[in-house]
Amino acid sequence: MKKMRLLLCLVLFATQIHAQDQKMNAFITALMAKMTVEEKIGQLNLITPGSGILTGSVVSTDVEGKIKSGKVGGLFGVIGAEKVKQAQDISMKESRLKIPLLFGSDVIHGHKTTFPIPIGVSCTWDTALIRQSAIIAAAEATADGLNWAFSPMVDVARDPRWGRVSEGSGEDPFLGSQIAIAMVKGYQGASLADKQTLLACVKHFALYGAAEGGRDYNTVDMSKIKMYNEYLAPYKAAVDAGVATIMSSFNDVDGVPATGNKWLLTDLLKKDWKFNGMVVSDYTSVNEMVNHRMGNLQEVSAQSIKAGLDMDMVGEGFLTTLKKSLDEKKITMLDIDRACRKVLEAKYKVGLFDDPYRYIDAARGAKEVLSADKRAFSRKIAGQSFVLLKNEKQILPLKKTQKIALIGPLANDKNNMLGTWAVSADPQLSIPVLMGMQQQSNATSIVYAKGANITDDTTLAKKVNVFGLRVDIDKRTPDAMLQEALSTANASDVVVAVLGEASEMSGEAASRSDITLPASQIKLLNALYTTGKPVVVVLMSGRPLVLTNMIEGATAVLHVWHAGIEAGNAIADVLFGEVNPSGKLSMTFPYSVGQIPVYYSQKTTGRPMDQNNKFSTKYLDIPNEPLFPFGFGLSYTQFAYSDVKLSSNKISKSESITASVTLTNKGQYDGAEVVQLYIEDKVRSITPSAKELKGFQKVNLKAGESKTITFKLTEEMLKFWNADIKFVSESGDFNLLIGGNSRDLQSVPFRLL
Ligand code: BGC
Repeated sequence: MKKMRLLLCLVLFATQIHAQDQKMNAFITALMAKMTVEEKIGQLNLITPGSGILTGSVVSTDVEGKIKSGKVGGLFGVIGAEKVKQAQDISMKESRLKIPLLFGSDVIHGHKTTFPIPIGVSCTWDTALIRQSAIIAAAEATADGLNWAFSPMVDVARDPRWGRVSEGSGEDPFLGSQIAIAMVKGYQGASLADKQTLLACVKHFALYGAAEGGRDYNTVDMSKIKMYNEYLAPYKAAVDAGVATIMSSFNDVDGVPATGNKWLLTDLLKKDWKFNGMVVSDYTSVNEMVNHRMGNLQEVSAQSIKAGLDMDMVGEGFLTTLKKSLDEKKITMLDIDRACRKVLEAKYKVGLFDDPYRYIDAARGAKEVLSADKRAFSRKIAGQSFVLLKNEKQILPLKKTQKIALIGPLANDKNNMLGTWAVSADPQLSIPVLMGMQQQSNATSIVYAKGANITDDTTLAKKVNVFGLRVDIDKRTPDAMLQEALSTANASDVVVAVLGEASEMSGEAASRSDITLPASQIKLLNALYTTGKPVVVVLMSGRPLVLTNMIEGATAVLHVWHAGIEAGNAIADVLFGEVNPSGKLSMTFPYSVGQIPVYYSQKTTGRPMDQNNKFSTKYLDIPNEPLFPFGFGLSYTQFAYSDVKLSSNKISKSESITASVTLTNKGQYDGAEVVQLYIEDKVRSITPSAKELKGFQKVNLKAGESKTITFKLTEEMLKFWNADIKFVSESGDFNLLIGGNSRDLQSVPFRLL
């Protein structure tokens, strides 16, 4: 009976969707019948009038004139009800067909209320919270006139030299997929017709995170086996979650730039995965195919539209060459019609044909943008994103009776709190650590000294300061600052050193070959260590850093990424124990740059590491193990795991089994632990990853409390892409691994029949 009712509901739902689709198709068909070829091509043109952050050398010109003549489908970098209205008015009042414009933006980690950078958010391992962050960002962005977010970025990334690891969810396809789903569902909500939701745009399709050497925009070369098993899952998860748009990447995939790659955009995305939304290029990535040596602008534009690209960002290759290609029969009207329909569908879905001004509501903007509840949420998610890497002698949380020396170039800084890609936000609204700590400590004495510049390297500083002052080189000499810091430290009970990267030392076009702390800060830290005072290091960065040279002397290390607009408050919450840290690394912290790429799932090889065997896979000078493994993160409390129990040690293709483990909070503080489940495949027809994350649960436990956690294990979870690129399972022996990080795990054998 229940099943029948469910079936009936599903059929009704499908019929409704079908009817809606038919209505949309009929509307668009009628509209397209009125459009000239030029107007259709105009819809494929996405441009920016030049405010916000420009990530290429090209900026659009004569935006107004182009809108009037129907040569623009959408704009980005236009934010706020008033400005959006002005632009929409041009199209609605002065263009022939009055087709509303899309308004996009890089809403990446919040809009004006900035949350922690995405890699920080991913360290919460809390998909409900992450989804909430996207719901809030969408509410704020739509109240500010936008209807399209260029997010989430789901590129699996295993090279921390690549600055854009800050924008993603780290190294793992499973965790990355869960987060991709949460973000898409958060942005798009139950319906795009809702004014509080917007079009999400999953990016960068595909494999952008695997740029060689971690150098941005670099080439990618990867086997299909690796692609399918380790890199594609998060994009696919976003597509299955209904993402409305997808952005092609800058890099090549199997020798063809993604933007003009028919296998990628049509065969895989549109045919295999049944994606029926819109595909937009990255910033001038059509034009950049000329540099990739694919041909001239006309040729690469034709190649891209034929490959399945629908919208061209900024470069205007489509606008300026497609008509010629059509006349010369290099492309067909069908190609243009397909792309134009996709752009119009996106507009239809967000209700712009019902009301082109539906996202323009100054009253809603005044109420929603930077509202107190959004700031409160930012503080909450920031506190959950911090990863406690070390805490000797339980120095943290700090006691309110202690005299604290707060030292470091990021300790009283507003300019770097937001992190990279906060294009619409105002850094001056962010809370520095000093202010956050002062507001909370009442009894505590806090004395601040800058101690060092983020870097003394003026060439680097100039590159980092492109979007505003991030590295502020002090007028005092480094030595004068150091002396002040030392006397401050000497007069204290504990030193809190706030160090790390400026926000623009990571992000786009911010690759680094040396990912240690800059020399100026290492010098400061080493000097602080000589005082004999306990030193708590609060580390900010947009990527995993190599901490090997500084970790020994630190009593505690709290990694806080770039924590967003409420950074200082959230950091104070954790330092003073109002919030117990529970973040877990979504990306391995290498022991040295020489190990990169280093990630938890690395294959065992035919000569697995063996210290006693010279001819095993290893380095002569460094260990194979990273400094901190994927999934790692401490708490102020301690968690104990019972033995793992399986409901059966045999699993069949039709019947699942369960794994359970009892987790006990043995310490003095309430806290949360992320229980992680990995699978190790003992024999496979292709070499498997050493282990693969297949499940996780974040569990809150009061001090002294225990809870039994259960995971369901199905045959589906044991599948992989084989040599024929078929998704299969293979009978045989496996280990199920459970623990609090990817290194310290209990192992229980089982068999797939
Ligand atoms: C980036 C994208 C971004 C776009 C628009 C590009 O340079 O790669 O992630 O969405 O610019 O700002």
